[in-house]
Amino acid sequence: MEERDLQKLLSEMSLDEKIDQMLQLNGQFYSEDSEVVTGPMKQFGINEKQINQAGSVLNVTGARNVKRIQDNYMKKNPHKIPLMFMADIINGYRTIFPMPLAQGCTFDTDLAKEIAAVSAREAARAGIHVTFSPMVDLVRDARWGRVMESTGEDTYLNCCFAQAMVEGYQGEDVGSKDTLAACVKHFAAYGLPTAGREYNNVELSERTLRDNYLPAYEAAVKAGCEMAMTSFNTINLIPVTGHSYLTRDILRGEMGFEGVLISDWASIAEMVNHGYAHDKKDAAYKAIVAGVDIDMMTDCYTNNLKKLVEEGQISEELIDEAVMRILKLKNKLGLFENPYKGADEIEDERAEIPEEHRKLARRAAAESFVLLKNDGLLPISKDSLEKGHRKIAFIGPYIFEKNMNSTWSFFVNTEDNVTIEEALKANGYNHNISLAKGSTILSPGDYVPGFAYNSYCDATEDELNQMRLEAVRKAKEADLVVMALGEHREQSGEGASRADITIPKVQMELFNAVYEVNKNIAVILFSGRPLDIRDINDKARAILEVWMPGTEGGNAIVDVIFGHTPPGGRLAMSFPYSVGQVPIFYNEFNTGRRLTQDNERTRCISKYLDIPNTPLYPFGYGLTYTDFQYSNITLSSNVLKSDTAIEARVAVTNIGNLAAKEVVQMYIQDLVGSVVRPIRELKGFKKILLQPGETQVVSFEINCEMLKFTDINMNFVAEHGQFKVYIGQDSTTENEAEFEFIK
Ligand code: BGC
Repeated sequence: MEERDLQKLLSEMSLDEKIDQMLQLNGQFYSEDSEVVTGPMKQFGINEKQINQAGSVLNVTGARNVKRIQDNYMKKNPHKIPLMFMADIINGYRTIFPMPLAQGCTFDTDLAKEIAAVSAREAARAGIHVTFSPMVDLVRDARWGRVMESTGEDTYLNCCFAQAMVEGYQGEDVGSKDTLAACVKHFAAYGLPTAGREYNNVELSERTLRDNYLPAYEAAVKAGCEMAMTSFNTINLIPVTGHSYLTRDILRGEMGFEGVLISDWASIAEMVNHGYAHDKKDAAYKAIVAGVDIDMMTDCYTNNLKKLVEEGQISEELIDEAVMRILKLKNKLGLFENPYKGADEIEDERAEIPEEHRKLARRAAAESFVLLKNDGLLPISKDSLEKGHRKIAFIGPYIFEKNMNSTWSFFVNTEDNVTIEEALKANGYNHNISLAKGSTILSPGDYVPGFAYNSYCDATEDELNQMRLEAVRKAKEADLVVMALGEHREQSGEGASRADITIPKVQMELFNAVYEVNKNIAVILFSGRPLDIRDINDKARAILEVWMPGTEGGNAIVDVIFGHTPPGGRLAMSFPYSVGQVPIFYNEFNTGRRLTQDNERTRCISKYLDIPNTPLYPFGYGLTYTDFQYSNITLSSNVLKSDTAIEARVAVTNIGNLAAKEVVQMYIQDLVGSVVRPIRELKGFKKILLQPGETQVVSFEINCEMLKFTDINMNFVAEHGQFKVYIGQDSTTENEAEFEFIK
């Protein structure tokens, strides 16, 4: 449709109709028996007419189902404006890829883009038009359950992934059958809830907000992201859903966002709970003034906006502005021409996941695995197994676990997943292997409420003892034990903050019992967040963090532990030494009393008495099956001027015997600023494959854009002075050079 046709359509719509375009409902309102307004709908406070005019629906999928709903809806909708279908497709639809934090650990944005494109294609076939992704909240506190949905603790890394994911979902044309419109979330700073407790308030300075938290949302906007979602939290005591300065001035004004802004689930009504609005009407007023276009799952807009217009509190133009944005998006998606868009029953309902999607999931998982520790135990040689020189016991609840998907994998058939046990068989590892579950994932007494089901330990003490005895027996007979342990998948994700971020006790008891009889333990660690793993770190000889790896998890794990594929991940989020350190992140600031080797036994120093200042494993860290050597840095010049760039180079050599990928990381430090500057910040990275003995020269451009920050006067500028550049394997590298920036 041409823009003037949309204007004409808007002018013909009644005020009620327009307001209902701004309502988003979930699938229960469109189920087959929803012809009559049933109990829950009554409670919700809306009637059939509003349902038939609501502009969008969330988390309903399936080509057949979506087409049925669209057909029924179009028959009843006064202007035949198609419904828009949105869903949370955060790491795949039918094929589940590694969770987003794991994708961050790949340091491979092309891979993330490919994953997003495949996810979009699968979801589009199921009738979805918009995904509530990417989630780009900066995360530094592992207690928060939603760290799994973000690509980590670093602003620059998150920006790169935000852009890649938006490009992957949206492709060249959001109107095509294969693509989805992306919705960046949760604007803003939802990743900083006080004390890591879900939905808690957020307090931060405007400078930190601008320098660290906002850039990734902006990167998504600049990549053309069609939608944005407000967050549940307050920022400096104002709920974001009613925070005009953030949503109108910064998001729309400064960042140039022209798309549709949606509230998070019920976040308009929740402004009443926050004590920021008197009632739903007041909440609706605050949200529309802030420029929120769609009300997700409350009746605040649909039942109050008309009154607000009639009372003259808001103008109808405010409504028109929002509705026009919604209509424009529907038009871009091509829904007026084809309300089903990519929905296709045949492809959507096919029995098998396409082989190329599985291959991508398998490759992506291996690229996301972070080898935290290895004293030579990994990789395991298949030869020695076959010749009977070694016996391996595979022990732990995750050996047999089908569900290795992150919590947001709602639309899958878990039966499609490959367990470690299945992968061992399928890849021909049948000799000299024994298997034992050893324990449940959760301990007796643990209870994790879920979205669809609740999780708890369903074994009796007796059964647990039996399991453990069997595992210990098998461990005793083996030369090497591979233990697959970790958090329950429901222990991370929304509503899953944890104060104690350790592996469930029942599994630690299993680990310690196995350790008593066999010290050769390699741990495969499953988690939705960095965990406190001090116990196993002291005892295990190797630890491979595999996060929630998704559909091809088992195959990828087998590929990596037997050396078929080297682990490719580097930490996108620091592994704290203990929860006492969080929030912890590499790009912190110096204090006036820095801890050094010389003053560690002095009292009044910025340190803990009982734990180190440094994390167990820092940002950017990860081993693989070879070692790399870095040359010193050479700079093309020691002076950088505003309108030019300099080049920093290193030569990286694979000094081991296996080919593997290295993530070459460049950090910059501004030595003195008008405000205190971080000790270093990631400003570039390159992932390269090196054959044994091979050397590659890696170069990075340094320009003045990279040096900018919010200065003492709140201007975003680069200040002249001395800078250090570090290039190396992780955020602690000491390989440095110095340059001066002259304006
Ligand atoms: C979450 C969002 C999600 C929405 C719709 C909310 O609870 O915070 O991230 O997109 O639900 O499912």
